[in-house]
Amino acid sequence: MYDKHGAPGGVSRQVKVMRRIYLDHNATTPVRAEVLDAMLPFFRERFGNASSVHGLGQDAHAAIEEARSQTATLIGGRSGEVFFTSGGTEADNLALKGVAFANRDLGDHIVTTVIEHSAVLNSARFLERQGFSVTYLPVDSSGMVDPGDVERAITGRTLLVSVMSGNNEIGTIQPIDEIGTIARRHGVYFHTDAVQVAGKIPIDVEKAQVDLLSLSAHKIYGPKGAGAIYMRKGIRIEPSMHGGHHENNRRAGTENTPGIVGFGRAAELAHTEQAAEYRHLADLRDTLEKRIREEINDAVVNGHPTERLPGTLNVSFPGVEGESLLMRLDLKGIAVSTGSACSSGSIEPSHVLLALGVDPHTALGSVRFSFGRDNTLTDVEYVMTHLPGIVTHLRHVSGKGGAKAVSVSSPGVVSSVARV
Ligand SMILES: Cc1ncc(COP(=O)(O)O)c(C=O)c1O
Repeated sequence: MYDKHGAPGGVSRQVKVMRRIYLDHNATTPVRAEVLDAMLPFFRERFGNASSVHGLGQDAHAAIEEARSQTATLIGGRSGEVFFTSGGTEADNLALKGVAFANRDLGDHIVTTVIEHSAVLNSARFLERQGFSVTYLPVDSSGMVDPGDVERAITGRTLLVSVMSGNNEIGTIQPIDEIGTIARRHGVYFHTDAVQVAGKIPIDVEKAQVDLLSLSAHKIYGPKGAGAIYMRKGIRIEPSMHGGHHENNRRAGTENTPGIVGFGRAAELAHTEQAAEYRHLADLRDTLEKRIREEINDAVVNGHPTERLPGTLNVSFPGVEGESLLMRLDLKGIAVSTGSACSSGSIEPSHVLLALGVDPHTALGSVRFSFGRDNTLTDVEYVMTHLPGIVTHLRHVSGKGGAKAVSVSSPGVVSSVARV
């Protein structure tokens, strides 16, 4: 795309202005205008500390309580059971460590899964170093946890089951209601990381019998650095922050009023628009998936064929290095991500894809497209004007250019790693 710009010295020349297509909404989302508008007064004239007794303090307090109610509505919970945190990571840490440390007299065992976000996995590993034992359940090749495995893993020493609602890399949605029922039947707390599903599919903490649930504002067009944990009334929890009596003694520290207000407004909008948003995102994802299926040999879609977050499409392109693909797309103004992590100077394949049974090389050739509310079918079209050529080029460079299409799974065949 080209735009006219005045060049220095008054000489007019054509400058290339790159089109920007953001397809990384599972990483973060832009703050919505309505959300920013709600937040701004709390940086300026409504700056009170919610703990202050005077009018300005009470104003901030009332705004936080409104946000609490908006957030509770998003998940079908009660206001008094929502506690604001600095984000999803803190909520996950509090759920695992808070329950473990406060209930040590009752047990020392936690059940979770191998595909959790690092906020859960590393909290669990930390607890292992503190003498707790953790069972990391496997998933099938679509990323699905077997509720039967959850039940079999629970022992008389189990305190907590933590299974994410939807996976950030592949989008697989877990059978949370079933797992919640099992945990309740065994008298074990149930935590779910719902950071990626909030605003995309309905959440009902009562129906799913969830005891603790993590949320993050910046995944739903709210600000970064704001999140919440839902905690069912009566749960014994050790706070991770010690200090004042904020958040009903669950999370000390002066509340981030602008962030919380923004989160509340984002939650309200997400709740109102969820059904329409679902259709929009699913349409974009399905269109891109279909086009990739038609136009790129050997592409493999990772995740569950149907039980998948509407805007998430994770695809492996065998013979391609995901990082190179990401950078080539970025040069065309398209932002995506890979699930691989850089550790000690080398690129490690995603722990989620490995858990699905994807071989390490193929896992390294995978990228995630995650759509958001501002994306359009024109964006999909733009991606498809560049993606096939880049994949062909990278395969050629890596000497895998000659690979011919493998057989495509017939529609209706539930192959967990769907070949496309
Ligand atoms: C599933 C999941 N849990 C937790 C987090 C962490 O949330 P935050 O960035 O608010 O700390 C993320 C963010 O990537 C996530 O995707």
